[in-house]
Amino acid sequence: MCGIVGAIADRDVVPVLIDGLKRLEYRGYDSAGIAVIGDGEVRRVRRTGRVAEMEAAARADNVQATLGIGHTRWATHGGVTEANAHPHASHGVALVHNGIIENHEQQRERLQQLGYAFESQTDTEVIAHLIHHYLKDGLDLLAALQRAVKELHGAYALAVVSRKEPHRMVVARMGCPLLVGLGEGENFVASDVSAIVQATRRVIFLEEGDTAEITRAGVRVFGADDAPVERDEHLSDVSLASLELGPYRHFMQKEIHEQPRAIGDTLEAIIDANAFEPALFGRDGAQVLDGVEGVQILACGTSFYAGSVARYWIEAISGLPCSVEIASEYRYRQAVANPKQLVVTISQSGETLDTMEALKYAKSLGHDRTLSICNVPESAIPRASRLVFYTRAGAEIGVASTKAFTTQLVGLFALAATLAKLHGRLDAEREAAYIEDLRHLPGSVQHALNLEPQIALWAERFAPKHHALFLGRGVHYPIALEGALKLKEISYIHAEAYPAGELKHGPLALVDADMPVVVIAPKDGLLEKVKSNMQEVRARGGELFVFTDADSNFEASEGVHVIRTPRHVGVLSPIVHTIPVQLLAYHTALSRGTDVDKPRNLAKAVTVE
Ligand code: G6P
Repeated sequence: MCGIVGAIADRDVVPVLIDGLKRLEYRGYDSAGIAVIGDGEVRRVRRTGRVAEMEAAARADNVQATLGIGHTRWATHGGVTEANAHPHASHGVALVHNGIIENHEQQRERLQQLGYAFESQTDTEVIAHLIHHYLKDGLDLLAALQRAVKELHGAYALAVVSRKEPHRMVVARMGCPLLVGLGEGENFVASDVSAIVQATRRVIFLEEGDTAEITRAGVRVFGADDAPVERDEHLSDVSLASLELGPYRHFMQKEIHEQPRAIGDTLEAIIDANAFEPALFGRDGAQVLDGVEGVQILACGTSFYAGSVARYWIEAISGLPCSVEIASEYRYRQAVANPKQLVVTISQSGETLDTMEALKYAKSLGHDRTLSICNVPESAIPRASRLVFYTRAGAEIGVASTKAFTTQLVGLFALAATLAKLHGRLDAEREAAYIEDLRHLPGSVQHALNLEPQIALWAERFAPKHHALFLGRGVHYPIALEGALKLKEISYIHAEAYPAGELKHGPLALVDADMPVVVIAPKDGLLEKVKSNMQEVRARGGELFVFTDADSNFEASEGVHVIRTPRHVGVLSPIVHTIPVQLLAYHTALSRGTDVDKPRNLAKAVTVE
């Protein structure tokens, strides 16, 4: 939810921190701050609002230093105020924190009794005082951090500096991502690589319970028992270009348009293998997938809707039972475990707390067959799973997920086909046909993108509305759900999705001339049923906005507007039909003048409950 960056160098690190925070802003954006060490002092600049406001204040104060930390916040404990913004400080110690400290109230009471005064309502401030408390006991900064974190319950990624130790920063990680960036004579820390990619691509991913000391000269990492450990160095493939807007107005627009490329990249391994094979999901693919008797999918948000599409595919293609559940629900109910089930978590970020906890819970129930569909290499959820399918969407910055969704669908389709093959339900001819369909998918998606001008015209009619209804049936019902989610997330229009057949059981009561009804109506076996549902809307004066395929025989008429996507692409149709609903939400938001990439109250990576 929050973003952390830190740097130590023999140049001014303030521009590095600010640049990094701007790239991390998608993680949370209600306040931002930096703390630097110089002339034996901690200087802090904090502002509510966007990083740019904090940057202006830092410029005005002419803040410069060779050691510093920075933070973008998404408020959990305590409102959006400057006092609650990070870095938090205690007597010359300053720190930034991502995560939640569950026992902060007990710690606060204890520290107050020890004489510490609190300036904020955050859970984070206790950590600053706790570290200072141990420094007072004579420990050095690293030892004080190591001692303090042992008393914290909850999740944290921390970066800490002290005015008394201007030659290093110390960091800790538990439950939230944190990586160290290795430069030449300068080193960095960040919650994700995008923050530091302008300086280095060489990274070390810290593991749960690790602490580390970062100086200009090097990095020392310590395991949960505080003993030195070696962690592998990786070369990140995140490119600077992928983090920049280029000719686009918004990252969301850029990411919508990147889908043919993202899908193409994600397909590469399947096309290269020219087969659906367990090895697509990892070295242990055969071992884990063999004998699977059912699938349980766990995810949140858009990823949950990808899972909802997959349920139709998995049951129809492989014949295996499949359930999909919102991770935050699954993790707190008494679920019945079946070790023969494959547990699939889907997460763009790989760090959504509810999804991670649902996975842990599934494992605690005896589920050993685990697969993660994820877009961020080395993130927590794939690392906790036996199998991984990495979508190759590239960095997704817009808070509303787009290219991650369609590439997740590619991975899930490959899973359905692979399970079908393992169960003798996919003959060679059908397998070849599916691969051929996949090969054509980027082209079909591009055709759907070409509809943008027509969709933009529809969006102008949506912009003044307060409500919208989305309808779909079968495998396209989750696309209606995703369309409604996109619209509400970024345009703030209240939108709901229903299976078209359910209309008469309630939502029809809402239909009048002011309620636009979007219908996903591809040329599949359910088109005639969907048409009847549309009649129900028309009969009540509702206005219909229908996305159908070029080769369907559905015609526009009074009150019924039609946009034709490319020719029906068969089983992959939900992927193609996602594009128009993304574009509709994007252009509606544009007309309404909302902050498309950073919608109010939301964040990209939700690492809190
Ligand atoms: C947040 C994002 C959504 C995303 C959801 C799940 O709500 O704004 O776009 O779908 O989290 O995130 P994940 O990274 O697990 O896919």
